[in-house]
Amino acid sequence: MEIIDTIAAFRQARARFGELGLVPTMGYLHAGHLSLVRRAKAECGAVATSIFVNPTQFGPNEDLERYPRDMERDLALLRAEGVDLVFAPAAAEIYPQGFNTFIDVGGVTEMLEGAARPGHFRGVATVVCKLFMIVQPTRAYFGQKDAQQTVVVSKMIRDLNLPVEVVVCPTVREPDGLALSSRNTYLTPEQRQAATVLSRALTAAQRRYEQGERNAETLREAMHSLLAAEPLAQVEYVSAADPLTLHELEVVGPRGALLSLAVRIGATRLIDNVALE
Ligand code: PAF
Repeated sequence: MEIIDTIAAFRQARARFGELGLVPTMGYLHAGHLSLVRRAKAECGAVATSIFVNPTQFGPNEDLERYPRDMERDLALLRAEGVDLVFAPAAAEIYPQGFNTFIDVGGVTEMLEGAARPGHFRGVATVVCKLFMIVQPTRAYFGQKDAQQTVVVSKMIRDLNLPVEVVVCPTVREPDGLALSSRNTYLTPEQRQAATVLSRALTAAQRRYEQGERNAETLREAMHSLLAAEPLAQVEYVSAADPLTLHELEVVGPRGALLSLAVRIGATRLIDNVALE
């Protein structure tokens, strides 16, 4: 496994491979990331993983400084998975002095995470586009956990004709349902227990849907009522939206729906979602 921190050296190394899968990450890897690596390994001749805590996708009052990092552990995990190339640049390599070009994906960035975290998707789209240009992957692997991110990246690829195929992989969960996230490490034991309310709320609404409920407001209310019963949970949003446009639905139609929510447990902001087919 080659560990590379400059764009020039990465381009040289990349030239030795044909088909290449990219798993973009911000490090502090968990089983969710590793499931993306395994899928990429199974589908591509070679696999590259990027580790870069992207400053432009964090708002001024967000957790950039305290975002968990453990490069040695990450590299050991990736080595064990048989990853070929790791791209782990410093911030100045990606954003040198004078950097001033950003990608603004319209429409699908306006709601949900985009409304709650102004500028977040501008940072995500910009860094993902740069990673695509540097790594030149055949396919790029993203987790369903960040559902809106997958919609935004797919739209950017379509709108800019980027020659990359996006592969979205299922959310990996703890046995009690909590979606894996590097931010789960912020939770105290009591908060960790309370955090199961996200997946419980989604499951309750999903069950209503499977029983035939198609009124989107009823599905949102089903999630709200579970969340209201958890004293440590502060709800930011609850959504039942069209899976392509992300507009809130009145009725779930043939395209199904994306149920999603953002909840604060203490100071930690968690998101989760489930796709209704
Ligand atoms: O999902 C993430 O970890 C990040 O948003 C990504 C795609 C690596 C871009 O920084």
